[in-house]
Amino acid sequence: MSTGGEYNPKMLGIICNWCCYGGADLCGVSRLQYPPHIRLIRVMCSARVDLAHIFRAFSDGLDAVFIGGCHLNDCHYITNGNYNALGMVKICKKLLERLGINPARLRLEWVSAGEGIRFANIMNDFAPAVQKLGPLGSSEGMDEKTLQFRLQAAAKLVPYIKLVERQRLRAPLKLRASSEPEEEYAGFFDSQEMNALFDDTIANKLVMSQITSLLREGPLSTEEISKMLGLGQSEISRQLNALSKQGFVRYDTGRKRFVSA
Ligand code: FES
Repeated sequence: MSTGGEYNPKMLGIICNWCCYGGADLCGVSRLQYPPHIRLIRVMCSARVDLAHIFRAFSDGLDAVFIGGCHLNDCHYITNGNYNALGMVKICKKLLERLGINPARLRLEWVSAGEGIRFANIMNDFAPAVQKLGPLGSSEGMDEKTLQFRLQAAAKLVPYIKLVERQRLRAPLKLRASSEPEEEYAGFFDSQEMNALFDDTIANKLVMSQITSLLREGPLSTEEISKMLGLGQSEISRQLNALSKQGFVRYDTGRKRFVSA
């Protein structure tokens, strides 16, 4: 969206009813100003925000997504839903990076109902930052078709990602009782152990899923797939080998290309 040549980003905010929405409301009542590029949706808890919502928002043409919740340990539900939101956002940012999308387009913040000024400050920081990033896709050097293809591949993986997250990536619950919960909990998602698990499971599956989707459209060489996915040929060969052993793809010697099996 642009007016008079100036690019105005399209932004979505998904905020929890009990804290961040109160902060946004107080911000409005106090007549504090922030750029008008963001549309807010109220949910009961930040834990209600799903990976699928974020990919859908980007797929529908939004340039950025903001998630706002209660401060950690202030969530109004006994499940402490904002810890789930924190983990989900950490995983989503890693995925966006793998898709070639700037992870700064997704932001999570804690805002209490009394923090109208904080809400305005965050919006006044986030909106210009997204404006600087530019429109989603073209700013990342991707045409619309590539962007949609990558986002759809990630969206298809959401059930698998949730399963892996629950079974293997969930930070130990005892971290929630530590004196500096956010640093420790967030630190787990940035740890080497977590990165290795992410690479072995979700990242691997994402590449495989993209390759099989591409080959369903027609035969392709390793080089062609590598260009389309923006990944090295050795990585694509490794994945093709694995897919071939699992019987999902095969090499067509006549066409000198891989095809869907
Ligand atoms: Fe606000 Fe859970 S109720 S984050």
